[in-house]
Amino acid sequence: MSLTDDVKQRLDIVDVVSQYVPSLQKAGRNYKALCPFHTEKTPSFVVFPDRQSWRCFGACATGGDIFTFVMQREQAGFSDTLKQLAQRAGVSVPERQVREEHQALFQVNEAAATFFQELLHSPRGASAREYLEQRGVDREATDRFQLGLSPVAGDELLKHLTALGSSDAQAVDAGLAVGGDEGPVRGRFRGRLMIPIRDDRGNLVGFGGRSLDGSDPKYLNSPRTPVFDKGRILYAFHLARQSIKKTGEGVVVEGYMDAIAAHRHGFDNVVASMGTAVTEAQVRLLVAVGQRFVLALDPDAAGQEATRRSLQSSWRVLEQRVMSSRSRVTLYERPSEVSLRIAVLPPGDDPDAVIRENPDQWERFIREAPPLPDYLLTRAPDWWDLSTSEGKTQATEQLYPFYKNMADQFERERYIRRLADLLSTTPETLAVSAARPQRPSSRRREPAAAPQTSSAPFEQEHRDPLEEHLLSLILRWPELKETASSLPPDAFRRPDYREVFILWQKCSTIEELYQTADEEIREQVESMLSAPFPPTDVHQREEAVRQCLYRMEERHLRELKAEEALLLAQTASVAAQDEGESQGVDALEQRVVDTNERLRQLFGTNTQIQRRE
Ligand code: UTP
Ligand code: MN
Repeated sequence: MSLTDDVKQRLDIVDVVSQYVPSLQKAGRNYKALCPFHTEKTPSFVVFPDRQSWRCFGACATGGDIFTFVMQREQAGFSDTLKQLAQRAGVSVPERQVREEHQALFQVNEAAATFFQELLHSPRGASAREYLEQRGVDREATDRFQLGLSPVAGDELLKHLTALGSSDAQAVDAGLAVGGDEGPVRGRFRGRLMIPIRDDRGNLVGFGGRSLDGSDPKYLNSPRTPVFDKGRILYAFHLARQSIKKTGEGVVVEGYMDAIAAHRHGFDNVVASMGTAVTEAQVRLLVAVGQRFVLALDPDAAGQEATRRSLQSSWRVLEQRVMSSRSRVTLYERPSEVSLRIAVLPPGDDPDAVIRENPDQWERFIREAPPLPDYLLTRAPDWWDLSTSEGKTQATEQLYPFYKNMADQFERERYIRRLADLLSTTPETLAVSAARPQRPSSRRREPAAAPQTSSAPFEQEHRDPLEEHLLSLILRWPELKETASSLPPDAFRRPDYREVFILWQKCSTIEELYQTADEEIREQVESMLSAPFPPTDVHQREEAVRQCLYRMEERHLRELKAEEALLLAQTASVAAQDEGESQGVDALEQRVVDTNERLRQLFGTNTQIQRRE
């Protein structure tokens, strides 16, 4: 259960509201008071314990749940309110502890990074500086990437950190030191060029340390820690994010040095996968900010193997992103849609070498990188022995479904014909032989493994799909702002989604929203931005937004109606004994009529919407 739901379940809205509104009085099944949000003479503020909701039926005409009440009353943000109410509910907030723990690790890492940097620029760093210079990493890049040098002596860093007030245990937790229990604690990285690794938010989560004396391993990385998981981080992403966002295009290389060389030469949309195949988590980071991606992994065997595996993970994520249950995959047809291209570098050269040799050449490799469908066809002969029927079968199983799923009919036929030619067969035979073994279900959803590091405060199952869909749409396509801005935030049921919406109304860009938002809200925004989406055009998107608005408005009005009906029944029974209340009954009856009329009008607009299609 999400923290929000947990808190809601444990607190009673009547208790909480009456603390703020001592005059809250029981009236039938509900509670009434003068509205705390505006000045009035007769009580029009009602709390519904059964629904755990409240509404002002007077001038301010707002309502909501326990969260919105406290937020409005305290003029507080969602996160603060969540914390406050969680405390009141006696719900421990593990996220907060975890966050503090993470913060402590970031700080130890920062202290270490500063120490490494100082050492690099001290007399003892002379030969390391020479090494950097020799590799074309100038002072500016050294500083931008905060490169440093770890001391050869195993206890130097620890002494330094202890002097700053952190314990050996913290250094071990951060992966900066090894040992403990029986043996002495020593620095993990010794005499290495230190490359700080930051996560997508710029938190310092770990290090890569390059050997300077030829000792193995070439790169020693931080071990897995609560904040460092190589597979969920892209090196230099925090530096590349803006550029990827702006141009829509991102480039993935393999190595730290590749990324550093790229940025040094102005290619600031480059991130590094840190040696392994690109993982789904990494692709997800990318698709949250851009649409077009180029994989430029090393041309050596390991790099090529990584490319192949990367294609599988990338493809799965991209497929999820573009697929709805009914529509087919459409990826390469429209430049504005998500696409994946594979840069083919000359054998023996990694991006670092290509860039330093000739930046224009690099630009050309990226520009001319073939789209995935073409790349697969060119590489197939290297991957399978196409002279044997076994090789052909394997190639068919792997490639045919891919092309078969292309949305554009002409493209689809063209590629299938090319595949058939490559395998010396006909499209018809391909179709038949591919139909035999069931296609391995690459459509399966992501395994629901819990995120290793920080756990999101809101879990999947308590989502409101309608609200979430609307938010995903309007967050992703800024041009929809106008269509959606008329919606009253009140129409959101989930307080956190409402908060996202309110922020979105206030901010002019997603970046601004992201900067303003609290952590919980950011996580929501991120997950909405990376939600899978069927391909759509502008009109379909506008239509989708209108439908969401319509359904939310409808839901909102129905809720209003239910509340009014409850109130009416109760007021009428009081009025039966008390003449003075009959006026209230009339007013309420009028409200019910009004709400019904609004619903009727709403239905009217929807038939118009549908008729227009
Ligand atoms: P490479 O061996 O291609 O490294 O591994 P590189 O970046 O080109 O290094 P230089 O140019 O020789 O200094 C690519 C990436 O794989 C990871 C690192 O992230 C490296 O940048 N790697 C490689 C490791 O983590 N450990 C290793 O021992 C080797
Ligand atoms: Mn390399």
